[in-house]
Amino acid sequence: MADHYARRRAGDEQTRLPVLRWEESADGPLLVLLDQTRLPGEEAETVCADVPAVVAAIRSLAVRGAPLLGITGAYGVALAAARGADVEAAASRLAQARPTAVNLRYGTELALDAYRSAVAGGVEQAAGAALAAARDLHREDAAASARMAGHGLELLDELLSGGEHRILTHCNTGALVSGGEGTAFAVALAAHRAGRLRRLWVDETRPLLQGARLTAWEAARSGMPYTLLTDNAAGSLFAAGEVDAILIGADRIAANGAVANKVGSYPLAVLARYHHVPFIVVAPTTTIDPVTPDGPAIEVEQRAADEVTRLPGGGRPLAPGGTTAYNPAFDVTPPELVTAIVTEEGAVCPVTGDGVMGLWRRSQGS
Ligand code: MRU
Repeated sequence: MADHYARRRAGDEQTRLPVLRWEESADGPLLVLLDQTRLPGEEAETVCADVPAVVAAIRSLAVRGAPLLGITGAYGVALAAARGADVEAAASRLAQARPTAVNLRYGTELALDAYRSAVAGGVEQAAGAALAAARDLHREDAAASARMAGHGLELLDELLSGGEHRILTHCNTGALVSGGEGTAFAVALAAHRAGRLRRLWVDETRPLLQGARLTAWEAARSGMPYTLLTDNAAGSLFAAGEVDAILIGADRIAANGAVANKVGSYPLAVLARYHHVPFIVVAPTTTIDPVTPDGPAIEVEQRAADEVTRLPGGGRPLAPGGTTAYNPAFDVTPPELVTAIVTEEGAVCPVTGDGVMGLWRRSQGS
């Protein structure tokens, strides 16, 4: 396993690193990932030469966010195939690296199916088919991102009757999680480009600070007017009438429209309902899971206590030694609290199981 870091500081010659790329080296193919645990201080890459390295990058959140996890899973299968590893076992390890984002399973299975369909022609041909499937998914996700941005801005303008919007977002849903410009963040960016974003309120997103470290970084790079707040400050912001809409992503959307997303999303949905503010979920149809019937059927990842009891990165203790912690990575918002779900195939508003499954079927061409 080759797992080394190539480091660059922000401001160096190359300011925009790709989030994920496939590279052919003298020692064989590599999957090169922008290490998101090191942002915003450092733009560093982690280089994966085999599936255990990819699984470690997924578990540590070096690579993260539902759509990008799907793309990573697909390239991971291609890597196993190109390196002559046991592709079935590799796909199973990749798919199980994190349990909630259904995109990871989707991307992994997509590349595995391509591999299986071509394997009669030889392993080299099958490896090529897996890589082609990963590349297609990467491209399609970029296209989906652009379409979601368009549909999302249209819906925002409709729900808020034009004007400039003050949008609150949670976690990180921009170019760092996608082949394109992201999901919810891409809608806010479209509003900014159209001159209709008054302010992006960025929840810091405890405990791993995806909002503070990543969304604020992306917003600053895009020149958006943004303000960071602690997750607990959202309530007073609503009470002050400073939020026009919430835009968040999703890790899995159940067949009835229940939405799993970063922990802290559900309390925002409750706040939004009380304050009559639209709670809008933006996600590609690859995040809809037709075999998960409802919210309780979604497995929520539980993470280590030290993410809560210590400063991020395993730093200074924040609690006495031996303190236990409740640390779910996600929570589930029931469909009745979701104003709309926006996908590349269009939006459902109000959210119903039929509407969500209609979008999913459209994405399958049926
Ligand atoms: O634990 P993470 O950082 O992978 O969680 C990411 C989120 O919860 C995002 O909001 C979600 O994946 C949607 S990204 C389009």
